[in-house]
Amino acid sequence: MSKNILVVAGDGIGPEIVAEAIKVLNVLQAEGAIDVTLQHALVGGAAYDAVGDPLPEETLSAAKASDAVLLGAVGGPKWEPLHISKRPEKGLLGLRAGLGLFANLRPAILYPQLADASTLKPEVVAGLDIMIVRELTGDIYFGQPRGVETLPSGERRGINTMVYTESEVERICRVAFDIAMKRDKRVCSVDKANVLECTEMWREVAIKTAADYPEIALTHMYVDNAAMQLVRAPKQFDVMVTGNIFGDILSDCASMLTGSIGMLPSASLNAAGQGMYEPIHGSAPDIAGRGVANPLATILSVAMMLRYSLGAPASAERIESAVSRVLDQGLRTPDILSAGMRRVGTVEMGDAVVAALSTPD
Ligand code: NAI
Ligand code: MG
Repeated sequence: MSKNILVVAGDGIGPEIVAEAIKVLNVLQAEGAIDVTLQHALVGGAAYDAVGDPLPEETLSAAKASDAVLLGAVGGPKWEPLHISKRPEKGLLGLRAGLGLFANLRPAILYPQLADASTLKPEVVAGLDIMIVRELTGDIYFGQPRGVETLPSGERRGINTMVYTESEVERICRVAFDIAMKRDKRVCSVDKANVLECTEMWREVAIKTAADYPEIALTHMYVDNAAMQLVRAPKQFDVMVTGNIFGDILSDCASMLTGSIGMLPSASLNAAGQGMYEPIHGSAPDIAGRGVANPLATILSVAMMLRYSLGAPASAERIESAVSRVLDQGLRTPDILSAGMRRVGTVEMGDAVVAALSTPD
């Protein structure tokens, strides 16, 4: 049966990079390797400009009815003066909340061809391949009570509250363990169990849930140490699982070990296996419309979509292999350009991936 993909290209470089990802999907479709139907909808600033709402009801309902959502990026200076409820970012957050996307998967992979892109020494990062699994719908970002109150003394007091239920911890741990089963079977759960009761419970639930996964080697690390270890010796990690705020910080840190924001995909999944797939970067207004944006993060997001939501892992691997071979050929968009390599634009890079897809390894 045909799978439905909702494409929301968004703003800035969003439409440019999504167009290249769609070319890749179209090649697989024409070959009969996958059976997908694409539908397009508005989100972010593009939606605000068209209908006055960064997340129109019809976009949200189309997303709910789809098997997967492919998102470019939203936002830009044009919409910055708007009230926060009208801002493009509201469209993205609304999609995440509306679909219940509780599991954010952020791989940090250093392609050997781009070893010089990292700010870390090559021997520290060469061969880096870690997966950060971040809980996305709980924690201090959503816990009550919250807000800023004025005390009788006139001084203000700001409050946010870290909250997790056992079932929320269990389901994100299961996602991490399932992923680790297909990798090196090692999971490091990151918490602050020495200080925060909420994360002490997190650790207990992680241990209990791991009993269902006897092959998984589960370790625990305090978040401050985890941050240090990510920079000191990142290759010690296979899969990391953590809550929303720790994951926010650690996944950004891990992504920069690879030095190339234009290369990193992400997936956000819900309990039904539906997912939203997007590059980790934003709408890059500084380079929008110039045809120089790197489309590889978005193309690799399509590979994650095929793996996690569309049941087509072989096609996912083909895309990843095609990307690697294009890098072998020396093709580089400006963000990953280094001496001796061939500078290409967005479309040329997309075309090269398409060509590599059709060429055997
Ligand atoms: P950004 O990720 O858009 O850009 C940061 C830097 O990386 C820029 O110099 C940009 O040119 C470069 N860059 C990003 N993606 C690239 C690509 N594919 N190829 C080559 N270079 C690339 O982050 P920034 O500048 O902080 O935010 C710009 C806008 O994007 C803001 O409105 C922000 O709110 C929004 N944003 C949206 C996100 C999303 O849709 N998920 C995530 C982050 C920011
Ligand atoms: Mg994004």
